[in-house]
Amino acid sequence: MSEALKYVKVEKNNDGIAWVYMNRPEKRNAMSPALHEEMDATLAHLETDPDTKVVVITGAGGNFSAGQDLKEFFRANEGNPAARKRAQQTANRWRWERLYNYDKPTIAMIQGYCVGGAFMQLLAVDFVVTAEDATYSLSEVNWGILPGALVAKVVADSVLPRHALYYACLGEPFDGNEAVRVGMANIAVPKDKLVAETEKLAQKLMLKSPAVLRATKQAVRHVRNMDFGQAYDYLAAKGAEIKANDPEQSYKTGLSQFIDNKSYKPVYGAFKLGTLLTDQSKK
Ligand code: COA
Repeated sequence: MSEALKYVKVEKNNDGIAWVYMNRPEKRNAMSPALHEEMDATLAHLETDPDTKVVVITGAGGNFSAGQDLKEFFRANEGNPAARKRAQQTANRWRWERLYNYDKPTIAMIQGYCVGGAFMQLLAVDFVVTAEDATYSLSEVNWGILPGALVAKVVADSVLPRHALYYACLGEPFDGNEAVRVGMANIAVPKDKLVAETEKLAQKLMLKSPAVLRATKQAVRHVRNMDFGQAYDYLAAKGAEIKANDPEQSYKTGLSQFIDNKSYKPVYGAFKLGTLLTDQSKK
């Protein structure tokens, strides 16, 4: 990216993983309008960055995020509808539209506080790895607002209604193990294993065909809102699209590696990326 970043930090180690930090540690990474602008631009850039295969969203200084900045996002914009609208649009764009539809796999790595508005990006990404002792809270009820933007919606869509009502209505904090139990996170680990576990998941994802992974993400997300007839049709069309547009030619290459070369078993891992089709499979 050309512009210097102040409230977002990006780290890349030439291994395909981009670590994106919300970077206001002194404010527990509370999300100001300026941080939203930088996150939006950063994610847009990384989505087409050829060196980035997986994006990890996390927070600097040992916390994920204390949610929207109550001073800069809410109070400062009270008398300024134009600024408020712009901040809301930008905040929603990266935390939902962008991440939910992201072309590349995304992981949230959670430690410390994950509060209120931060549940949007928590539930928009594909996977969540959390520290067992992280502290989650839908705190909105405690200071007089709803879990707004899409927070109530994405929580209600992600967990059983009883859990959604309990945590939204009480605002009680819960830890990483509970986040896994209710379905908000995939894996809870001791804090000292958090980075390694996140990296391990990213490495596993990078062994898959990017085109097939992208289509699979989209399919799993979109079929949730379809009836069976629509899902049959959509999945057939999506399957045809992958075969037509996948640079890895995953279907033929995978079949060939299993049937002709006997070089792998799909149950236990992905076919080898970057390999050419054998002559038999082209027939
Ligand atoms: N908005 C604005 N500022 C925030 C903030 C938020 N959401 N969360 C933390 N901060 C600021 C504090 O005001 C404080 O600023 P100061 O140093 O200028 O006084 C600084 O960040 C550190 O916060 P502090 O409360 O001292 O840290 P803590 O570790 O003791 O507590 C929290 C952390 C997250 C428990 C506590 O800050 C909190 O409850 N924040 C509100 C979270 C919330 O309800 N967010 C929902 C928004 S949708």
